[in-house]
Amino acid sequence: MGKNIVQSKRLRVKVALPEPPVRTLWWDGKELCLLDQRVLPGRERVLRLKTAASVYQAIRSLQVRGAPAIGVTAAFGVALEARRFKSQGVKVMRRKAEQAIELLEKARPTAYNLFFALNRMKEVLSNSERTPEKIMTALVSEAEKIYLEDLRSGWEIGLWGKSLVKPGMNILTHCNAGGLATSGFGTALAICYAAWNDGIRFHVYVDETRPVLQGARLTAYELQKAGIPCTLICDNMAAFLMSERKVDLVVVGADRIAANGDTANKIGTYGLAVLSRWHQIPFYVAAPLSTFHPEIATGLAIPIEERDPDEVTTITGKRVAPKGVKVYNPAFDVTPGRLITGFITERGIIRPPYPRSLSAIFRKG
Ligand code: MRU
Repeated sequence: MGKNIVQSKRLRVKVALPEPPVRTLWWDGKELCLLDQRVLPGRERVLRLKTAASVYQAIRSLQVRGAPAIGVTAAFGVALEARRFKSQGVKVMRRKAEQAIELLEKARPTAYNLFFALNRMKEVLSNSERTPEKIMTALVSEAEKIYLEDLRSGWEIGLWGKSLVKPGMNILTHCNAGGLATSGFGTALAICYAAWNDGIRFHVYVDETRPVLQGARLTAYELQKAGIPCTLICDNMAAFLMSERKVDLVVVGADRIAANGDTANKIGTYGLAVLSRWHQIPFYVAAPLSTFHPEIATGLAIPIEERDPDEVTTITGKRVAPKGVKVYNPAFDVTPGRLITGFITERGIIRPPYPRSLSAIFRKG
């Protein structure tokens, strides 16, 4: 990681951090720029989005994905729409921004960060100023603030979590909870980056993560770029590796966490948690507080996204199953809180019993 300082002059809160390992998304003053995650690792293509509809499409199609990155992107989507209608006066501008929020709320159902970010944009819109220029400034500032807060959370998750990484360890991760899934530092991978930066040497097993292969395409890409040794495995190999004592620590990200610690994350995470318990391997979830949804008591209330059957019948566009076969494609599963050793957050590592430890964090605000 470089030594550059990431700052926004417009914000009251100064955020001084090293440059993140990847540049997932950025606001250039007029457009939202996104690294297109559908075409990685083959191509590093930047998309330049100008409308809420294009942001909605980018989220739905996984051009941008990962809970925190989805939230930040949606916040900028609202600002983009307000910008588009700025010349038509306050009333039109507000209505268009409200419609953008309604549209973006429907982009994906599981990641709580989306709703966290859009609720903040709603609040700014309802309190905001009376001239188009001032509304615009307020919306862009809030989106930038959400972006920078997420950047800082990732960095801090890394600082807390690196204490769990010991020299020579083999860490297993699932899906992509890296810089690409956030404003830049990641959650599970933030821990790897922070430990590596401190000179701790270890190795990461990367689950390929079918059906869309976020592990193979994105996590392997990020770790290679950072020079962290990693080995790609198919999802069904984890049990065997564990039985051979080749895994010392499992760290994954999260899409939504209920008050009792039940955690939705990429399909396959629950299986890893069960396997980790059987093999007595610590199983940690790394997530910013914007992923926690303390108003829901258990994981039963978490909506699970079902995605297009084509994701299962094809691999990177190539058909691997007979036409017409019936498919079930839930994108996430829920790991019971009682299988989770700890939550690594920007406020520290939270340990069980969860209803109590998590509510203490949220009581403090
Ligand atoms: O469908 P995706 O790629 O958006 O799913 C992403 C995950 O499940 C990640 O593990 C999660 O969002 C955490 S990202 C820090």
